[in-house]
Amino acid sequence: MATDKPILRALAGETLPVPPIWMMRQAGRYLPEYKATRAEAGDFLSLCYNPELATEVTLQPIRRFGFDAAILFADILLVPQALGADLWFVTGEGPRLSTVTDRAGVDALRPAAEVHETLAPIYQTVRNLAAALPADTTLIGFAGAPWTVATYMIAGRGTPDQGPAHTLKNEDRATFEALIDLLTEATVEYLSAQIEAGAEVVKLFDSWAGSLGAADFEAYAVGPTKRIIAALKSRHPDTPVIAFPRGAGAAYEGFARATGADCVALDDGVTPKWAAAHVQKDGCVQGNLASSHMVTGGEALVSETRRIVEAFSNGPHIFNLGHGITPDADPDNVQLMIDTVRGG
Ligand code: CP3
Repeated sequence: MATDKPILRALAGETLPVPPIWMMRQAGRYLPEYKATRAEAGDFLSLCYNPELATEVTLQPIRRFGFDAAILFADILLVPQALGADLWFVTGEGPRLSTVTDRAGVDALRPAAEVHETLAPIYQTVRNLAAALPADTTLIGFAGAPWTVATYMIAGRGTPDQGPAHTLKNEDRATFEALIDLLTEATVEYLSAQIEAGAEVVKLFDSWAGSLGAADFEAYAVGPTKRIIAALKSRHPDTPVIAFPRGAGAAYEGFARATGADCVALDDGVTPKWAAAHVQKDGCVQGNLASSHMVTGGEALVSETRRIVEAFSNGPHIFNLGHGITPDADPDNVQLMIDTVRGG
């Protein structure tokens, strides 16, 4: 399919003179207009499930900054909720879920094909966005990767070391794998429905991939990602997939080949020079400016942005942060990053 959209061109393997740009968590609390719409919705989950307001917050950073991509406003923890887990957010602390710690807990979850009932409003947001976005802006859908989602379901919250998930994996592997398999299937269902509603690209967030040792990384980061991508490609062969195995380190090398991902998103734990030689040789890469520059700004932001653009300039590259922008970031620094990427 011929396209003029810069993000789709980069994902197809084209080296562009100026890399297209978007930003993880670009709709978020660093923007006053986001905070206003969130207050209107009442709370974060009500915002996610309100197609009109979720469309509005997705569009806010596009209007303000003219990013090349919009990412659907939702959360990776909606899939556990659609599978039957309780989910709530504690202000200032983060997510809480009912825990899944044994076989009975996994068996009590709904089958993967039943996630659509809960997630229907999200598909409506995707349809709204497909109709509302500027012609050059690419719409990205997303889901969490099974390992990362499982870490929240098993612990019932975010954890610094993903300890409870490692414990279940090591002590009751059959139960752990049953949960990973269910999440793999549910993720295929969810992302297929997003694509059918109008998502042009999908991204898999494996935020805690870096805590898996080498063998487990193969089994639970590479394996499920590969299965999800194969299933999506059989249903939607033309939809590119971005994989984000955050913290993969040296295992970033070969990840695209091993999983079939069209693009690998890089955190800031690898240098652009290393990643250009070892990851970009296999295709498009995305990243990898440290998100702290969005707080600190200044000359360091400009020089680091230039260094990244330069290092990836000989292959397909989508400029992005290494992780999500934080609430204490200054929108002026976002504009400075964009001006530096686009203006040299
Ligand atoms: O990037 C975007 O703008 C799209 C929307 C998006 C959100 N979460 C909105 C959100 C995306 C892609 C996510 C992904 C997500 N959610 C991940 C993977 C990416 C990563 O950051 O590693 C994870 C681990 C989650 C789970 C999650 N959601 C946590 C741990 C938290 C609490 C931490 C925090 O930042 O408050 C959330 C809440 C969340 N998800 C917010 C937003 C805008 C903040 C909620 C608020 O407005 O209070």
